[in-house]
Amino acid sequence: MNQKHDHANQILSLLENNESINSLKVAQTIGINHQELVGYLLQLEASNYIITEGLKKDQLFLTEEGNTILNSQSGEYEIYQKVPEGGISMTDLQKQFGIDQAPKQKQEQGEKKEKQAEDPKKKLFDQGFGNAKKMGYIKMDKGMISKVANDLPDKIKQELQSFNEIKLGSPQAKLLIERKLASISTIKYFEIKKGVKYSPKFREQFAALTTEQLLSGEWKDCDYKSINLNAEGEKISMGNLHPLLKVRKQFSQILIGLGFEEMPTNQFVESSFWNFDALFQPQKHPARDAHDTFFCSDPELSEEVDNTLRDKVKTMHQTGGVGSIGYQYEWSHEEARKNILRTHTTAVSSKMLYRIAQQYKEKGYFPKKYFSIDKVFRNETLDATHLAEFHQIEGVVIDKNASLGQLMGIIREFFREIGINKLWFKPTYNPYTEPSMEIYGYHPVLNKKVEIGNSGVFRPEMLAPLGIPEDVNVIAWGLGLERPTMIYYDIRDIRTMVGPEVKVETVRSNAFCVFESK
Ligand code: PHE
Repeated sequence: MNQKHDHANQILSLLENNESINSLKVAQTIGINHQELVGYLLQLEASNYIITEGLKKDQLFLTEEGNTILNSQSGEYEIYQKVPEGGISMTDLQKQFGIDQAPKQKQEQGEKKEKQAEDPKKKLFDQGFGNAKKMGYIKMDKGMISKVANDLPDKIKQELQSFNEIKLGSPQAKLLIERKLASISTIKYFEIKKGVKYSPKFREQFAALTTEQLLSGEWKDCDYKSINLNAEGEKISMGNLHPLLKVRKQFSQILIGLGFEEMPTNQFVESSFWNFDALFQPQKHPARDAHDTFFCSDPELSEEVDNTLRDKVKTMHQTGGVGSIGYQYEWSHEEARKNILRTHTTAVSSKMLYRIAQQYKEKGYFPKKYFSIDKVFRNETLDATHLAEFHQIEGVVIDKNASLGQLMGIIREFFREIGINKLWFKPTYNPYTEPSMEIYGYHPVLNKKVEIGNSGVFRPEMLAPLGIPEDVNVIAWGLGLERPTMIYYDIRDIRTMVGPEVKVETVRSNAFCVFESK
């Protein structure tokens, strides 16, 4: 049996023949401090062995000074004892206490006087002397101090020796409090009674049945805690999706629902060829400037693309084809091989279109709908609405019958799914689409028209070199992921969505994104 059980058993056996017991007395009997006892009481009460009633009472306590006197003697008694038979002068008596009478002139200086008054020895002496007179130990006659009687007892010490019998409010108590030898403070204690499961012997309640208990048969004698079926389970901390990932997931579900397949986007470093050249974007186009694009230094150049494809793209840029005269400039192979961080997901689409064209050669024509959502990079100055890396969502429809009307229809359907119903299309220019349209949507929260995407019909100058048959049309649109995410989660500064600025707590508590479609 451990000590915990010993004490519990002691408490229980004290209760065996008593209706109720007082915790202060129990602590005294067992010989532990009250606070420790309270710990055992709580445990016994929780197992219904006992019930307790919390009570309060004022109690007299010895102060530190009171204790000192109890262990030695009172100040007045010390003085009394030092007074000899024939009496003594004040100066001599003070000397006995090691109090040096300071020279007169020094005493006159105000500052020193104060110091003298602060001397703790003197203060104690004065106090003792005053009390010795008051208590009738000594008397003063013509400057001589003498004892009132011989063999007087130390009355205050005697009072303190019977301190436990002193009642609150009695003259003795008042005297001790006045002399700061005792003080009153409220103490909390308990009245202890038997509980419904009372037994004079404590049996520990086990939280779980163990293999050992089963094997040894000990379980037959064990008590078990009842199971709290209302207890809440422990919260499991697990991974949570970042707001961007939640919205991304939502977008991909919408697109999958509309019959789109996801394109592989796992390649941040792309050659200029797929990002620009294959998209019929001239090599002198301002977007290719280092101000807008991140170029890679190692490896600086990408691997060769298929020669035939390369030459077809080159010809289209230089002299044109499919009814176009091209851009009429000297196309640089080296420029096209420059590695960059892809600036848009249309680089993914151009590669996919080439792959589809290859498949057409084997399997013949089939319509296809693709989408991608992933990171792109632009050399932007960072501010509350711009980052150098962000995400794009892109949709591509490859279909013989694809038209501008169909593009507008698909875009309407897509935005309707994310709760944007009012759309406007504005003509714009992209090197790789014709016609091209900026997409504007009415934002109910911002209460205004906002640009939400870009779109168009891919130009024959782009599609022909990739090998897409002339009668097959490809329509596409793209938009950023960050803006809808910021609107949805009310994020004011785009920079708080990345790196150490991300607040883990909001990531945990943010709702799973569900767009309301009407
Ligand atoms: N690539 C364009 C952009 O970065 C978006 C776009 C995609 C436009 C497809 C037309 C067609 O803004």
